[in-house]
Amino acid sequence: MSAQESGTAAAGTETLRERLLASLVTARARTTLLTSCVEEPDLTAQHSPLMSPLVWDLAHIGNQEELWLLRNVGGREPMRPEIDGLYDAFEHPRSERPSLPLLPPEEARRYASEVRGRALDLLEGADFEGTRLTEAGFAFGMIAQHEQQHDETMLITHQLRTGPAALTAPDHRPAPPYTGPAEVLVPGGPFTMGTSTEPWALDNERPAHVREVAPYWIDTVPVSNAAYQAFIADGGYDTERWWTQEGWAHVRRNSLTAPLYWHREGDQWLRRRFGVTEAVPPEEPVLHVCWYEADAYARWAGRRLPTEAEWEKAARHDPATGRSARYPWGDAEPGPEHANLGQRHLSPAPVGSYPAGASPLGVRQLIGDVWEWTSSDLAPYPGFAAFPYREYSEVFFGPEYKVLRGGSFAVDAVACRGTFRNWDYPIRRQIFSGFRTARSESA
Ligand code: AVJ
Ligand code: FE
Repeated sequence: MSAQESGTAAAGTETLRERLLASLVTARARTTLLTSCVEEPDLTAQHSPLMSPLVWDLAHIGNQEELWLLRNVGGREPMRPEIDGLYDAFEHPRSERPSLPLLPPEEARRYASEVRGRALDLLEGADFEGTRLTEAGFAFGMIAQHEQQHDETMLITHQLRTGPAALTAPDHRPAPPYTGPAEVLVPGGPFTMGTSTEPWALDNERPAHVREVAPYWIDTVPVSNAAYQAFIADGGYDTERWWTQEGWAHVRRNSLTAPLYWHREGDQWLRRRFGVTEAVPPEEPVLHVCWYEADAYARWAGRRLPTEAEWEKAARHDPATGRSARYPWGDAEPGPEHANLGQRHLSPAPVGSYPAGASPLGVRQLIGDVWEWTSSDLAPYPGFAAFPYREYSEVFFGPEYKVLRGGSFAVDAVACRGTFRNWDYPIRRQIFSGFRTARSESA
């Protein structure tokens, strides 16, 4: 290597180190906010059987960081081996976690911050080569993403919590109503799905591979509350033919009549959002719907949910070059002009927002705002290899889980890409989930 090349490589290493440091610091600031904005009893309480107590997420964040950075990368001895089992998500389902002898809030904070101190020492001397875990800073990137994923989980818990608001964020700036086309035609043919080059992409996003997709139309914006209200007003929840068999059984058994957190007062729909009750804003993407509701709405509208491949082609394929980009707007890292990410706001932005984040074909808000249900089950890509642990994705492959794409307002940029895959059960709607619809060109 010439002196100039090695100088460039060294500069690249320092840039990478700074990015990793910034990602870890950003994640910890958010974790701290989410675990300091309520009193202790709200940290140790279970606000829903679907969620862990906030104090579990806090120590679990520290425990995973200790496991992957200090022990696996750094070769250190366990700091507190006796607590590992408590924070192993597979040993104890969420519903059991409140009855475990969890670290009390002060101790959980101290543990997470001790781990962080040592992880930053390790980062300072790391050379980012040698093993797959260290290459391009993967393990550090994975841990920053993991913390951000649990920050979103904790934000879901905050939304489930009853009582006065603990979190605030600025509203969206008023924007003119979206007047562009309702749908665009995505040409059929091959495109590259998944990635083999994105350094911090997780195992289920890999490897890059070619997919054929038949031509289809896809909504340029997510389905709005106004559109969803028309489905409700048209008796959508009382009309069996819009629903799959399981979906119909589910809405009947649970008497579902509207998205989670909505209730009716006279002729108005209201919603509870982070401790505040307000009128449902018609222009916002619908939020807190399950897969069955999204699927039924699409059928009512004479459409269907996009497959996961259709979603990704709409988000990444540039018909002019035939290339798949990292994001709808290209390869640049997400900025505040591109997408509503990172809990900058506590709601999705009105449909049609973020024109600078549009895809080459003009599809908006694919990244950020609301997680978008797809019609697809979570399945491995051809050539999938679990890394670094089977329990991140592999154990979830199968027909029980539906894929969600694109991230929500509660997702940080470090945990969001055109290739990023999320999944959940089709009945779940405490997550920040919405959708857009599609139709086959021939339909
Ligand atoms: C990918 C969001 C489904 O929260 O269960 C966090 C992410 N994996 N810790 C989840 C995750 C391990 C995961 N999801
Ligand atoms: Fe986790």
